[in-house]
Amino acid sequence: MIRRDLYGNEVAVATQVALDHYDRGLQLFLAADFGAVEAFQLSIQLDEGFALGHVALARSLMMAGQMAAAKAVISRAQDLSVKLDTRQRQHTECIALLLSGKSQKARELVHSHVREYPRDALVAQLCSNVFGLIGFSGEVGREAELLAYTSALLPHYGDDWWMMSMHALSLCETGQIAASTKLMDKSLALNPRNANAAHFKSHAQYEAGELTAGRQYLDDWLSEYDDRAVLHGHLSWHSALWALHDGDEEAMWKVIDTGIGPDAAKGLPINVLTDTAAILYRAELAGHAVAAERWSALSDYAQQFFPETGQSFADMHAALSHAMAGNGDRLMHIVDTAKGFAGDLIQPLARAWGAIAREDWKLALKELTQVIGSTERLGGSRAQRDLLELTYANVLLKLGLTDEARRCLTVRRPVLASSPPIAAYST
Ligand SMILES: [Fe+2]
Repeated sequence: MIRRDLYGNEVAVATQVALDHYDRGLQLFLAADFGAVEAFQLSIQLDEGFALGHVALARSLMMAGQMAAAKAVISRAQDLSVKLDTRQRQHTECIALLLSGKSQKARELVHSHVREYPRDALVAQLCSNVFGLIGFSGEVGREAELLAYTSALLPHYGDDWWMMSMHALSLCETGQIAASTKLMDKSLALNPRNANAAHFKSHAQYEAGELTAGRQYLDDWLSEYDDRAVLHGHLSWHSALWALHDGDEEAMWKVIDTGIGPDAAKGLPINVLTDTAAILYRAELAGHAVAAERWSALSDYAQQFFPETGQSFADMHAALSHAMAGNGDRLMHIVDTAKGFAGDLIQPLARAWGAIAREDWKLALKELTQVIGSTERLGGSRAQRDLLELTYANVLLKLGLTDEARRCLTVRRPVLASSPPIAAYST
């Protein structure tokens, strides 16, 4: 029977109750909240022939880190969707392409699909956000492309809290902080438990240098957030970063050990690796001692979950972990095999991390100079890429190029320039 989902799209589903669970799962998924997998499972228990229920379950399993299960479920969805209309077949195909690792094809199909079906939110979501198919395209101008993408979709969504939060995120990452904050507050008023909104409100506060208010807001928000939800580890990273910038070392280590590190976080491996590596090195830059065992454990984690190159944002942080742990063979494997959406940048960056670990600042500068003008291509948010901005400034400082370090931060990251969290800056 044909019914309409939360966004008005026609779906073939046997019962309204099955659709109700689907709609609830969709809201939880779009809010990056815990419980989407369970809601979609309930939906297909009530209607085993519900193709899009299977698609949604596959997508939510992927975001819960259960790739094998996700692939099995999407296969069933593909069988079920054969006789459905174009939207539902293409919807299924977009997620199937993503799950089979065909990111470029998935991105192309999503673009054409949303032009015809802009309110197909589960498909539209694939190209949104920093870790989406545009975010990890490796292309110059991907932040502007994300802004163009959400700008085109926004008018189709009315006062929808999710799309507002996605567009506010795009505004934030292109430097439109006031407009981002205004729209995000509107989104949060409609759904205060949307983790994507709390996340990029925190980014906007970071970009505006609002340390005290930002730290307070996020820690309050996090206290009510399920630690099994997908953004818990990354929001903990933001919390630890606020603590670091606030000079609260004790709180920073506590959050690392309870919410971010390999032994604590329950989120996706890419978040565990990138967030842990970034906070550990930013702590080092700020002058805090980082125990060698922390780097060793993280290098082992990177080796376990990202043994081969290809996901450049992960590779960038894996290389840092291997370098700081003194695992030269693992580091050289990344240099020798670097591939993926920004593989050409990973090679000099991995060599730079190796040079930094050996305190060969001259070589580090030579290698980093090849990367620093193109960091957008590596993926991640501006706040995440500040790891590279601060590292570059630190290398300049180590070489005695204090004026250049100061000028570089002022030009590239003015929010960090007045009081950079770099110990060498004040000496
Ligand atoms: Fe973030």
